[in-house]
Amino acid sequence: MDVNKIREDFPILSLTLPNGKKLVYLDNAATTQKPVQVVRKVFEVYRESYANIHRSGHYLAQKASHIFEEVREKASKFINASDPNEVIFVWNTTHGINLIAIPLLELSKKKGKKEVLISTMEHHSNMLPWRRAASLLGLDVKYIPVNADGTLNYDSLEQLISKNTAVVALTHASNVTGVVNDVKRVARLAHENEAFIVVDGAQYAPHARVDVKEIDVDFYVFSGHKMLAPEGTGVLYGRKEILRQLNPLITGGGTIKDVTLDDVVYLEPPHRYEAGTPNIAGVAGLGEAIDYLKRVGLDNILNHEKILLGKALKRSAELEKIIVYGPKTIDKRLGIFSFNFKGLNPHIAGQILNEDYGIAVRTGLHCAHPYHYALVANEGTVRASFYLYNTIEEIDYLMDSLVNMERTILKT
Ligand code: ALA
Repeated sequence: MDVNKIREDFPILSLTLPNGKKLVYLDNAATTQKPVQVVRKVFEVYRESYANIHRSGHYLAQKASHIFEEVREKASKFINASDPNEVIFVWNTTHGINLIAIPLLELSKKKGKKEVLISTMEHHSNMLPWRRAASLLGLDVKYIPVNADGTLNYDSLEQLISKNTAVVALTHASNVTGVVNDVKRVARLAHENEAFIVVDGAQYAPHARVDVKEIDVDFYVFSGHKMLAPEGTGVLYGRKEILRQLNPLITGGGTIKDVTLDDVVYLEPPHRYEAGTPNIAGVAGLGEAIDYLKRVGLDNILNHEKILLGKALKRSAELEKIIVYGPKTIDKRLGIFSFNFKGLNPHIAGQILNEDYGIAVRTGLHCAHPYHYALVANEGTVRASFYLYNTIEEIDYLMDSLVNMERTILKT
């Protein structure tokens, strides 16, 4: 994997900031930069192939519909789904989870289910929709705790799960520590209890191969913008036999076979879940991003990011005042390096990294407040998150900068 060659596809990475520093972009868990191939594709669609899809029969409408449906096929292969119709295009992961939380709990309630299990390490997007849906439908919410190193407490999960469990909502990888959950093991437990498993793949799918058949999950959701594609695109994968049983939450144009004044017959999935005009050009860009990631190879990407993470973890030993969150080895975690300096507010640390070193990181509670409280990082963390275009030199530069900060600002 030739990182320098990859970087040629991302002109933004060569930016010099107004303060004269060269940009070092380490905020990939928030969103990734887009390669020229994706930008070009979006531009081309608007220039040559744009019309609304699945509605009109004219040339451009057919062309745009064809491009859109080709990406559905690509996305289904990307996660090894059985059928392209198991892929629903959504705006992002948050949208995908909100789209199914209420319908899935409605169905579960009819089956006599009483509880939703959510892990404490969830991003709010895989926590708040379930809490809202559970409260509307009169179900309880229970939380699977985490261990001190931020990993999931599987023993507690085994105690909490029961035949009362409607849904287990779990992230594949944490957006704070990069901890990877054993979703296959949790899926087995969920199914033994006749519960559904919904996996938030926002932080995992851009970095490693996903095989929904192998992990045997019922729903898997991820965002385009965290995997080189335009924002406003994403995928909600759902098992077709479940999708057929649910009533869509958002209804309207493009979802129905027929409507009379007192009845409605919905289309088969996925179309019953895709109300309104979608992000047509964005989805074309998502297809291009999938092609790009496949060309580089997800295994190569994962391996590269682990090398970067290994470097950051190893060099953190040079720092006396650093607290690193998550397990201290590269196993079972992705290229996310969250830390604090003892006695320094994370926002101030992030500001110094930006202003004095040109390093872009995210600081704060990263939409995962309960997880930060469990990690005893109540003010938040500084998060450096890596992707395929980051170099080992950039990680060295980050660590050199931290060493320098410790020597200068935190010397007392
Ligand atoms: N969910 C994104 C993050 O963790 C925005 O930064």
